[in-house]
Amino acid sequence: MSKPKLLATHALFEAPQQRLAEFFDAEFWTAPERPPRAELLRRVAGKDALICLLTEKIDSELLAAAPHLRIVANVAVGFDNIDLEACTHHKVAASNTPGVLDETTADFAWTLLLAVARRLLEGDALARSGQWSGWNLDQLCGADVWGKTLGILGLGRIGQAVARRAQGFGMHIIYNDANRAPAEVEQRLHAEYVSRDGVLANADFLTLHVPLLPETRGLIGAIELAQMKSTAFLINTSRGPVVNEAALIDALDKKLIAGAALDVYEHEPQIPDGLRRPNVVLAPHLASASVETRTKMAMIAAENAIALFEGRRPPNLLNPAALEGAAIQGRKSL
Ligand code: GLV
Repeated sequence: MSKPKLLATHALFEAPQQRLAEFFDAEFWTAPERPPRAELLRRVAGKDALICLLTEKIDSELLAAAPHLRIVANVAVGFDNIDLEACTHHKVAASNTPGVLDETTADFAWTLLLAVARRLLEGDALARSGQWSGWNLDQLCGADVWGKTLGILGLGRIGQAVARRAQGFGMHIIYNDANRAPAEVEQRLHAEYVSRDGVLANADFLTLHVPLLPETRGLIGAIELAQMKSTAFLINTSRGPVVNEAALIDALDKKLIAGAALDVYEHEPQIPDGLRRPNVVLAPHLASASVETRTKMAMIAAENAIALFEGRRPPNLLNPAALEGAAIQGRKSL
């Protein structure tokens, strides 16, 4: 029996690729740039499975171009690039990669937080410039982190991993989430549940860990930034559109907050000039980018695709309705 056909929009590290090759006739997009849309539509036609990155928009147009497609496995935990309703309508399963990237992403949120608070990039630039004239009492003095108040919006797995690290810095942790965490979690993390306004008004460092949903788009805008302390820093490792960039630039211009550290942007890969300033640390969407974690993410995407074609329910299925009533490969039912 011929193997099902799979397209992966990126090379996927050795182990996941080998695993996929056992089950699929697999094609990997290996060019350094992301596949142009027309090329993606051309290549996905006739494929049974797609492994994609968050840079690919999975919508009705793509699904219509790939009538044999059975699964879209996203190599990311966030899946705002996938129109789940359209997938369900086309009976295409969709999956993501939750869990494996929490600690790595939390590490990076802290990397950003510490870098912006302690002016690391400015220091690095000075140290490299050949212009450093030696230790100086008031040189590049930043803000203390230890003992400060950490505000977390979104206390899911990643927010909790960020909170765990804050304990080593002796911080007071306040949070808000549409779903309040169980008391046991709050106690373990020493995290105090307060209103969103309370988080905004009291955080010395505000870190965002919400998914991008209609209700979180523009969560941090002009009104919210105006509520923050003028000494506070904003850290965003969630999704760019959670922050209104124009409002952030305006707030930085008006010194309504002390700085920001960003890994994500409203219109990636575009970064507005207004964000290129010394008190803003800019990273190119790297939060989960450790070799170990990215390899695990690719393996999870592979396992989700394999599961479907083995007649099992993909472990990270996002739209169970897509499979309702569908006999998978004529083998076992779900
Ligand atoms: C990365 O941003 C992810 O959602 O995994």
